[in-house]
Amino acid sequence: MKILFATNNAHKLTEVQAVLGDRYTLVTPRDCGVTEEIPETQPTLEGNALQKARYLYERTGLDCFADDTGLEVEALGGAPGVHSARYATDGHDFAANNRLLLQNLAGEVNRRARFRTVVALILGGREYLFEGVVEGQIIDHETGHEGFGYDPLFRPDGYDRTFAQMTTEEKNAVSHRARAVRKLATFLHEYVRE
Ligand code: IMP
Repeated sequence: MKILFATNNAHKLTEVQAVLGDRYTLVTPRDCGVTEEIPETQPTLEGNALQKARYLYERTGLDCFADDTGLEVEALGGAPGVHSARYATDGHDFAANNRLLLQNLAGEVNRRARFRTVVALILGGREYLFEGVVEGQIIDHETGHEGFGYDPLFRPDGYDRTFAQMTTEEKNAVSHRARAVRKLATFLHEYVRE
């Protein structure tokens, strides 16, 4: 089964394809001729995920899903949250975001944080939401070179390594996105069976 996933981020594609397995072939917006940036202007992860999925569905008519993720840092009142991509600048500048996060947590002993992902699926014209969360800590310097975004600063509970020190398989065992996508996969398996 082919399904359109609202991302052109190669890291995300690899992670999500690994979770869904080869029963599903992921198609990207670019594959469908949607080359412009998909708007995400809502104040919540749920709103953004739905906005992106609806945008694609309206243009392609294909079954599709979109995800939106936020890093919620306890000592910062849940920031950067829905603003995670554009925390430091207008673009997706991962290095600048990480620098700002460390700056804002300087001297802070409470390093609790969580990643939260919301996946919005449009299937047969109906909408469904799935959520995935992983709890952990923000460490005080970037460690590791895998993954993307805040991965070098985030150490999930139960591990002595950051996400950026893990393989895709290891990250997928616990990550926010993998947890949300596993719920999506379970739902799709049931749906396809009916
Ligand atoms: P998006 O909504 O999934 O694009 O995520 C928004 C921002 O959150 C991204 O630009 C990254 O900075 C960050 N982010 C999302 N997922 C991850 C992840 O798995 N690891 C690290 N950072 C992430």
